[in-house]
Amino acid sequence: MRAAILPTDTMSAENSRQHLSPPVLRIKAVRKLYRELEAIRNVSLDVAACEFVSVLGPSGCGKSTLLMMVAGLIDKTDGEILINGTPVTGPRPEVGVVFQQPVLLPWRTVLDNVLFPIELLRLPRAKYVQRAMELLAMAKIDDFAHRLPRQLSGGMRQRASICRALIHDPSILLMDEPFSALDAITRDEMGVELLRIWQANRKTVIFVTHSIREAAFLSDRVLVMGRRPATIIEEMTIDLPRPRHIAMMEEEQFNQHVRKLRKAIEASHV
Ligand SMILES: Nc1ncnc2c1ncn2[C@@H]1O[C@H](COP(=O)(O)OP(=O)(O)O)[C@@H](O)[C@H]1O
Ligand SMILES: [Mg+2]
Repeated sequence: MRAAILPTDTMSAENSRQHLSPPVLRIKAVRKLYRELEAIRNVSLDVAACEFVSVLGPSGCGKSTLLMMVAGLIDKTDGEILINGTPVTGPRPEVGVVFQQPVLLPWRTVLDNVLFPIELLRLPRAKYVQRAMELLAMAKIDDFAHRLPRQLSGGMRQRASICRALIHDPSILLMDEPFSALDAITRDEMGVELLRIWQANRKTVIFVTHSIREAAFLSDRVLVMGRRPATIIEEMTIDLPRPRHIAMMEEEQFNQHVRKLRKAIEASHV
């Protein structure tokens, strides 16, 4: 996959955070216990419409737990999670989720996998076939629409998973280390591709990662989580210009952000 040429209408951290509109996602004093193990402690967070926010933290700190609570896939112990002002009590149609591993159904074609949420939501499948093909074209895997997942590379499968998360046009995309199984080059290219999709479709993205560089490259804002019980220990606005391109990762401005984030994480280890 070649790096996509990004559209010129930039969306900077400044204008993508619409401070006047109510937050799309509001997490208030959330806590999560797995029996006696306290995984999440007192996490609060507001995310604005069209914002790209990363949650960065070491393995096992509670990132997936937080994301799965927002997705309505696991219960919280205490606190409140509101999406568009309504408490989350289960999976919601305005939310799309991309998991760490591409969880495609092996016996279904790529197209049928992408259309799976439409069936779950009991929407008319025929109305969504064209949109599925457009998404696959955007992800540059439309030639593989009628293939089975095993006939695709890992990167292509993850792109298919992203198409599936987008098929019902959710306004919020929750992504749990979606590129962590990919090689470094594909990973950077997928990041650029994701930013292109995000800008073209005006989504709100909450992106979980343990990669400092990935968080700094993609985000408007990075939230650093400390070790368990996880809480947010640092918040950093990434004011790099958009559209972002891979060459920016060589620039001093980018590396300054990376160093600041690394310091925050190191501080959390003591
Ligand atoms: N279903 C579960 N039951 C018990 N403990 C869990 C469960 N899921 C996660 N944990 C524990 O909660 C902590 C946070 O896990 P997780 O949210 O997966 O972290 P991360 O995604 O940051 O790697 C870890 O110590 C993990 O072992
Ligand atoms: Mg995880």
